[in-house]
Amino acid sequence: MSKPPTSSSAPQQNKPSSASSTRVFYFRTTFRNAIYEALKRRGWKETDGDNWDLHWTEREWMSEVFDSIHLSPTQRVNHFRNQRELCRKDLMVKNLKRHKRQLQKEQNAEADAYSFWPLTYVLPGDYALFVEEYKRYPTSFWIMKPVGRAQGKGIFLFKQLKEIAKWKSDSRYNAENKDAETYVVQRYISNPYLVAGRKFDIRLYALVTSYNPLTVWLHRSGFCRFSSTRYSNDAKTMQDTTMHLTNVAIQKKSETYDSETGGKWSLRDLKLYLMSRYGVAVTDRLFYDMEMTILRCLFSVQNIMMNDKHCFELYGFDLIFDDSFKVYVIEVNASPSMSANTKEDMDLKVGLLSNAFDIVDLEGKLQGNETRVGGFDLVHKGIPIKPNSTSQYTTNLGCDIPDDIVRSTEKSVGSTTNGGTPKADDEKGKRDRSGSKVGITGRPAFGAGGRSDSRSGRKTST
Ligand SMILES: Nc1ncnc2c1ncn2[C@@H]1O[C@H](COP(=O)(O)OP(=O)(O)O)[C@@H](O)[C@H]1O
Ligand SMILES: [Mg+2]
Repeated sequence: MSKPPTSSSAPQQNKPSSASSTRVFYFRTTFRNAIYEALKRRGWKETDGDNWDLHWTEREWMSEVFDSIHLSPTQRVNHFRNQRELCRKDLMVKNLKRHKRQLQKEQNAEADAYSFWPLTYVLPGDYALFVEEYKRYPTSFWIMKPVGRAQGKGIFLFKQLKEIAKWKSDSRYNAENKDAETYVVQRYISNPYLVAGRKFDIRLYALVTSYNPLTVWLHRSGFCRFSSTRYSNDAKTMQDTTMHLTNVAIQKKSETYDSETGGKWSLRDLKLYLMSRYGVAVTDRLFYDMEMTILRCLFSVQNIMMNDKHCFELYGFDLIFDDSFKVYVIEVNASPSMSANTKEDMDLKVGLLSNAFDIVDLEGKLQGNETRVGGFDLVHKGIPIKPNSTSQYTTNLGCDIPDDIVRSTEKSVGSTTNGGTPKADDEKGKRDRSGSKVGITGRPAFGAGGRSDSRSGRKTST
């Protein structure tokens, strides 16, 4: 643990400026994973005091402490005050539905695009509505999820209403269970797109540095998390969480879990695989839909988020697409796991965080006209920012990360310039920068699983 800084280096007295190269920056965090590693590699010093420049904090700190302290203009924290509006399963759907209704009221054609979440009801409040809907889809599976937990905990699937009788007696339906958790019940996506017979979801990272104007940086990388059991939509398999839930924490319990490789594929691996099967146009359309799904989630909370210049948020978006390439958002995490157990996974996460810190830019090194910083592309700043017109892609998601860190434009932000998109022939059958094989074999070349390890023991999502 480093000593607290002297008053001469306290953040209150230091604005980012040309002198910032000589100034010492302080961070505070309880995490001991890629977050700590990235902060240390930056040369910043750790503090337990209030003299931090950057506090990588847990969500609870925002509700318990943030409102009661005064921050200097240059201090930064990694959450917005009411992040749960997007990151709690029930509130996310409430906000998406509300935003869709608003667009419909305005007769905005964009309203039709807001159909990218599985049918969801909050229980017990929406029970009557749920039963009505349940009757309309008698062959569907449903998935029950506690709104306040992560890592697949407390989740189960069912088909018949009678199968939730026991849960009902243990839950909020029982007036004596005043502390029982709120759940959402959701239509189960029973036709996920499979690779090598296995289900997967996709984790993507978006950095929001402001909600006004909405400023979104989307990371090109990300990964697929595969289940370790071949998928079946036979009702008999419903209890098999290792088949149906792709959380690393669940997969680790499976006998067939490969701890060496961890059940992951990079987003780039997926892109190469799909391009080889369906071509560039179809794959690009799918990846563009993923980008738009992320942006639309953010649009839905743009007007209710408490924008604050001290705050930024690195979101982990979980998406699934089905066998007709329809993209769904499963959930949005405000504390995506930054633990890693292979070098490749660590490199991705430390690189991602380092680039996020580059963008937050406490050191005052950016010009303000950058459209790419490392693996992050600026995709929205008040208005959409598109890849440059020579690119064959409509999104840089899944593209290679160029060696240079920063791509900027002389044109104002909001022009159509972006950079570093690989050519199609750059995408075929090569080894990627991390050295992992990206040959298209139909068999996932799995990477690492994640683990949560803040000193407080609070869990992040895996
Ligand atoms: N509606 C759904 N249809 C299909 N699979 C789902 C659905 N909801 C969740 N899952 C699966 O369950 C996993 C855990 O669900 P999620 O909502 O992310 O909860 P948690 O917060 O516990 O991670 C997801 O990663 C996904 O594999
Ligand atoms: Mg999840």
